[in-house]
Formats: sequence, C-alpha cells, structure tokens
Amino acid sequence: MKFFLDTANIDEIREANATGLLDGVTTNPSLIKKSGRDFFEVITEIAKEVKGPVSAETVAHDHETMLKEGLKCAKIADNIAVKVPLTIEGLKTCKALRAEGIMVNVTLCFSANQALLAAKAGATFISPFVGRHDDIGFDGMDLIQDIRTIYDNYEFNTQILVASVRHPVHIHQAALIGADVATFPADVMKKLANHPLTTNGLAAFDKDWAATGFSIL
Ligand code: G3P
Repeated sequence: MKFFLDTANIDEIREANATGLLDGVTTNPSLIKKSGRDFFEVITEIAKEVKGPVSAETVAHDHETMLKEGLKCAKIADNIAVKVPLTIEGLKTCKALRAEGIMVNVTLCFSANQALLAAKAGATFISPFVGRHDDIGFDGMDLIQDIRTIYDNYEFNTQILVASVRHPVHIHQAALIGADVATFPADVMKKLANHPLTTNGLAAFDKDWAATGFSIL
C-alpha cells in the first residue's frame, strides 16, 4: 500500500519523507488555507521535496475554468496530480486532463457509483472519504470494499486512495481490503509505528543489556 501525507505543511512532509516511507502528498483548499501560504509557492515546494504524486486541487465548478486551472497546476511539476471534485463537470475535466497525460485525483467521493464514474473517466486516483462517512453514521470501509469489488470486476486501473483517514484502524482495514493508497495526517503516521508492547519490550532489553556491561561498538 502506498502512503500519502494529507497536509500542506512542509515541515510535516519533510519529517515524514525522512523516514523513507512516504510515497506522495495530498492537499485540498482547507489544508492550503491552514498552511497560511501562497498556493503555487507551497505546491511547488512540496513537489520538489517529494518524488511521488502531489495532489493540487482545482476550485472552479465549471468544466472550462476547472480545465484551465488544472492545466496551470500540472505545469508546476511532473509529479502533480490534479484534484477535481466528483461532479459531472469534474468528470469531464478528468477525461480532458487524462487525454493530456496528466495524473488526476477525483475527490469528494462518497458512493460506489461515483467511483464507477471516475474509473470510466480514466481517473488515476479515486478519493473516497471514509472519516466523513463515519461522521454521519455509515461505515466508510464498506464503501472501500464495494469500490474494490467493482474495480476488480472490471479491471479498472484507477487506484483507490483512501482519504479522510482519522486513525490507524482505517489504514489496517484499508490494507485488508486491498486499497492502493491511504492518505492521512502526520499524527496518524506517527501512531502507525506505535505499540505499547514494542515500547515495553525495548525498555526491558535496554535494562537487561545495561546489566551485561557489554557494548557492541
Ligand atoms: O484531503 C482530503 C481528505 O483527506 C480530507 O479529509 O475529512 O480529514 O478533512 P478530512
């Protein structure tokens, strides 16, 4: 499974990238606002820092303007994936950008039928939002399972990018289902490695090793 960081905070991205485990980054208008930085400046910096796909989101609602925005974003760097919303206008833009060989991440997906449309539009990535689904009492992972089944039934190449991830259990479940990518905040990435028995085990080894008086180096 590929790991993307869901942030426009360059410090968080650098820290995660230093682990060697980061495969890409996703941003959205709310994360750009949170960064407090100029859109093109921050996306350019992120695309330099990370080798993998960096999602930059369009904000127009009509196809013509969205396409212009998408083509401008794609010029920032070769690893830009243009994010468009799952609307008819967004799907038209997805098809047009894919025809230009540009990576497209179709976002704000909340149903399997929407994901089917995005695959038919040739999307590189589909971003179903599991956390926001959970927020209204649905199990977001049921959506991921349905999309996985449909995409496998028709051998669609669109990658399932699990978004709106809130905790490590979302990543565990997404991996069991066979999602291609998960994007998540920096704090969730840190929690992935944490396990109390690992911490306790290391402390016990440290204590026992100290008692030996040996040193390896
Ligand atoms: O970037 C898209 C998505 O991951 C945002 O999700 O629900 O945390 O705002 P959320």
